[in-house]
Amino acid sequence: MEFKPIKYMEWMKTRGHAKYDLCPSGVSNLSLKELGVGIEDLEIYGENSYGYLPLIQAIAKRYQVHEDNVMLAVGTSFALFLVCALLLNKGGNKVLVERPAYEPLWAVPQAFGGQIVRLDRKYEQGYAFDLDEFEKQLSENVKFVLLTNLHNPSGVSLSTSMLKNMAEAANKKGVFLVVDEVYLEFLDGEVGQTSFHLADNIIVISSLTKVFGLPGLRCGWILAPPEIVEKMKVFLDYSLVEGVFIGELISSKMFDQLASIKLRKKERIHQNVNLIKGFIEDESCLTWIEPSGGIICFPRIESGLSGDELARILREDFDTAVIPGSLFESPQHFRLGMDVESFVLAEVLEHIKEILA
Ligand SMILES: Cc1ncc(COP(=O)(O)O)c(C=O)c1O
Repeated sequence: MEFKPIKYMEWMKTRGHAKYDLCPSGVSNLSLKELGVGIEDLEIYGENSYGYLPLIQAIAKRYQVHEDNVMLAVGTSFALFLVCALLLNKGGNKVLVERPAYEPLWAVPQAFGGQIVRLDRKYEQGYAFDLDEFEKQLSENVKFVLLTNLHNPSGVSLSTSMLKNMAEAANKKGVFLVVDEVYLEFLDGEVGQTSFHLADNIIVISSLTKVFGLPGLRCGWILAPPEIVEKMKVFLDYSLVEGVFIGELISSKMFDQLASIKLRKKERIHQNVNLIKGFIEDESCLTWIEPSGGIICFPRIESGLSGDELARILREDFDTAVIPGSLFESPQHFRLGMDVESFVLAEVLEHIKEILA
């Protein structure tokens, strides 16, 4: 295994403080106090050998799955690590990974010896997949397909029929479809949305990080067939041995509150999406695919200026951070976060206008 530096992670972790930071893709963090958890509710020891049962039960209930389908993980990130450790245990396997992508999606399977083949989501096609192309890329030595729904960086959702068709095509070759759903519940709709029930070869990874503003809990999970979950438990014995009890305990208490936690930011996000929508409609140098939900969007610059240049000028002249598109394999773009005060967003948009002019 070779762990090469992940440029995106390094950039995010070392970007330093900016007056206006529009880089985050998850809603701002909640404190223990805001969540109504007191020290008297907490304990550092308890039974969590293969995960704290009340937390496993809460996840199973929310997503309407059996407890045997749930494996806890330290964030979606470790969930991906577990999936790769399990599915890429023999060399020479291919992994089909969406492009543009959040870098760990291809870096982690590559570190496990996976041969990465890219699966394009073209801007011109609204970041949808081309099913015919996808079918051509499937073969017996593809181990799994990895994609995000909602898509990072664009925030675009995949239709149920597309996911079903992809899973069906993959199943014919004995291939798993691994769906990162860390942004999915930004969508309005039923509680506990997931693609897990669409097909037997779908594995879902997700967490409480982005939609619910709880990254510090590192509460992640995998929804998978029971035989996969059993094998992951063995991997747990080789790696973390156990999760952090106090984190799993607090996480289990969060599930009853998720609906109200989610409502907290709804109005502001709605207002900010409309602000950006109006701005892009009026700004001839920018185009975008409107996100289906969430707090990120991925505008394209049509004037020749690169996304990296725009990000640099915003940073140097206006103390504002956005993510350069090159970190998402798309140099003409930049990723803009929307969970800021609307007046801040309006000011940043004015600065972008000035730079583009
Ligand atoms: C697509 C995607 N998956 C996973 C993660 C990490 O999530 P977690 O905090 O649950 O590990 C991110 C973070 O940006 C992400 O964009």
